[in-house]
Parts: sequence; C-alpha cells; structure tokens
Amino acid sequence: MSSKRVFLSESEMPTAWYNLQADLPQPVPPPLHPATNQPMGPADLEPIFAKELIAQEVSQERWIEIPRAVQDVYAIWRPSPLVRATGLEKALRTPARIYFKDESHSPPGSHKPNTAVPQAYYNKMEGINRLSTETGAGQWGSALCFACAFFDMKCKVYMVKVSYHQKPYRRSMMHIWGGDVTPSPSTDTHAGRQILAADPDCPGSLGIAISEAVEVAATHDDTKYTLGSVLNHVMLHQTVIGLEAEKQFELIGDSPDVVIGCVGGGSNFAGLAFPFIRRKLEGKDIRFVACEPCSCPSMSRGQYRYDFGGQAVRRHRRHHSRPGNLARHPRRDRRGHPVPQGEQGGVHRLQLQRPRPVRPGLLRPLLQRRTGRLRIPPGENRGGHRRVAGHRVDK
Ligand SMILES: Cc1ncc(COP(=O)(O)O)c(C=O)c1O
Repeated sequence: MSSKRVFLSESEMPTAWYNLQADLPQPVPPPLHPATNQPMGPADLEPIFAKELIAQEVSQERWIEIPRAVQDVYAIWRPSPLVRATGLEKALRTPARIYFKDESHSPPGSHKPNTAVPQAYYNKMEGINRLSTETGAGQWGSALCFACAFFDMKCKVYMVKVSYHQKPYRRSMMHIWGGDVTPSPSTDTHAGRQILAADPDCPGSLGIAISEAVEVAATHDDTKYTLGSVLNHVMLHQTVIGLEAEKQFELIGDSPDVVIGCVGGGSNFAGLAFPFIRRKLEGKDIRFVACEPCSCPSMSRGQYRYDFGGQAVRRHRRHHSRPGNLARHPRRDRRGHPVPQGEQGGVHRLQLQRPRPVRPGLLRPLLQRRTGRLRIPPGENRGGHRRVAGHRVDK
C-alpha cells in the first residue's frame, strides 16, 4: 500500500445502516418491565424515547435507510479515513498490517455524533424540541448538543458532578452548541434530591445522571431521553463506521483477520464490528476482540441476567471503591468501621455483591440486557487501568 490513509468520496458514504438483528441465529432477549417482569412493549418506552427509535430498537430489517437530512450532517466529517498505523506496527515490530478507523474528525471529536445526529433528527420529526441525557466525561453530552444545534432543539445534559468540575472545556463545548449543562446529582429532580439528602457531597455517577435525565423526560411532554451507547438503535447508527471500513478495505485489496475495539457501552466496537460479523456469519474467518477496562469490565465479569435491584447502592459503592475517592469516602465494613486501604477490594468484587433493593430504574433492564450490569464510560473510571494487547495501561 502506498498511502497511509484510505479515503472514500462523499458519494461513497453508506446510505443505509446495517442491522445485525436481522442475521442473528436467535433474537436477543427482550427488555423486561421492572414493575411487571413482562417484556416491554413500545407503549412502555414511548414516554421517554422517540417512536422511530423504539421501532429501530426491535427492528428485524437488515438495512435501515439513513435519512437524507442525517446524511447531510454526516457529510461534514464523513466518510472518515481508514489509517494504516505504521508507527505502531514499527513499535510492535510486527509483520501485521494494523489499521484504525479515525472517528476523531467529527466536530465533537468522537464517534458519538454518528448516533446523536439521527437521534436528534427522529425526535425533531416527531415534534420534540428538547432532549435530555447524561454524560460522564462529556463526549456524549457534547455530541448530543452538537446534533441538537442542527435541528434547532434544546439539550439538557446532566453531567456527573466530579467530571463537571474536572472537565470545564467539555462543558464549554456543550455551551457553545447551546446545551444546558447541570452537575449531577442536582436539585432539579426527585432522584437527585434523594441522593443529595443522603450525601450532600456526592460526586455523582453515570447511574445517578441517567436517573435524572430519564426523570426529566418522563415528567415533561416536550422532552425525550437519549442514550449514547448500549441500545440496539445506537449500535445500528454506528454501523456506518464498519460499512465504510469494508469499502475502504476493498479499495486497497485488503481485509481484516482480526477486528478490535474498546468497549464502554459497546457502540464504537459494535459500529466497526457488526458489518464484519455479518461476513463471519456468512463463513468468513474473522476474529473479534473487544477490550474492556479492568476497572469496569462490562463483558467478562458479573452475571448475564435480569437484575432489577441495587443500582444506586452498587453505583455508590463503585464510586467509593475508586482509589482517588478512598481518602474522602473510606469504605466501611458491616459495622460501619473504615476498612484499611490494603483490604479495600477492587471493583470486581463489589460488582458481584448481592444487590440491595432500591427504587428500580426504568432503563435498568435495557442497560443490563447484554451483560447483566450497567456500565460507566471511561471518563468515570479515574484511577483505573485498561488493557491493550494484554498490557496494563494506566489512564
Ligand atoms: C471517545 C469514546 N470512545 C469510546 C467510548 C466508549 O463507549 P462505547 O463503548 O459506547 O463506544 C466513549 C464513551 O463515552 C467515548 O467517549
């Protein structure tokens, strides 16, 4: 290959997303309603999600057309380049050819706008003028504010309080795109007020911010909720990444033997991998490697099951378990005595603790459907580490 970067022209941008659900040997288990334990129907989700997104969530259609208006916004940074990582190849002294799909070209700087834009668009088409969401480090919040700006919509973002203070520039980006950003937990919502009453210094967590954003959508007719990862329709929108990559590989006469991605909620990995998983289902020999942070492993630990209890308690504990938080919030044993630092177990052990019953969140079964647990995006895992090619990497 002569050039390091492989480009497609704008006219080669995919015009439909690929829906892996159409090709799965068995359908994924449905989300259950936390009150009835019965499969949720569209009516259960309509108070918080746009109808079209609910339809996509359960769609069995293989191809779903990308609306023209969404393609027009995508065209600001898409198709994104496929880049040969020659420096990494050299550093690893590997004969392998390593490529990465560079999603940093989007104005907010990540893959998140690939789904933020259609989510804003479908809501706008249904007469919704305000979206609510949560954000940890600010990537998803900024992507959604960016998307809302295109469709003249308001955006309400609950940002995990500790990140709100640590990442003022992400907050500024959201403001520039017209977003309204509130540190979470806040006094805006019943959920936030409850948490603050129990712990006025609570630094927040993604779970708490989700509760606030969902509550705002559920209690305001003009507002719907959006999620930046995890759900089927989010994975669907992100397949634009892998569909472009397939064409780029064709152009250079190469094809991947191994597809690798990092997994927080799964959306960039799914976006790149799903079109290649289709090829694997057709018989092609491709290996898939999903890399998770050890500090919040969302695939290799925990149990794959429905779990309607314990979200807030476990999230709170998870926060307390992070090294940076130990001094301010030492973990305590059953009698309330602080546990010496050396004995403060890692996050894994805490996650496997038996959940305590707390108010079940509406989104909980959706979020847990794939792995049995909620996930925290990388920005919330301060003090953690992740693995790249088997090596531990400090954040
Ligand atoms: C830039 C970036 N990459 C990856 C992730 C992980 O999320 P996902 O697994 O949904 O791609 C995030 C999450 O916020 C992110 O902001």
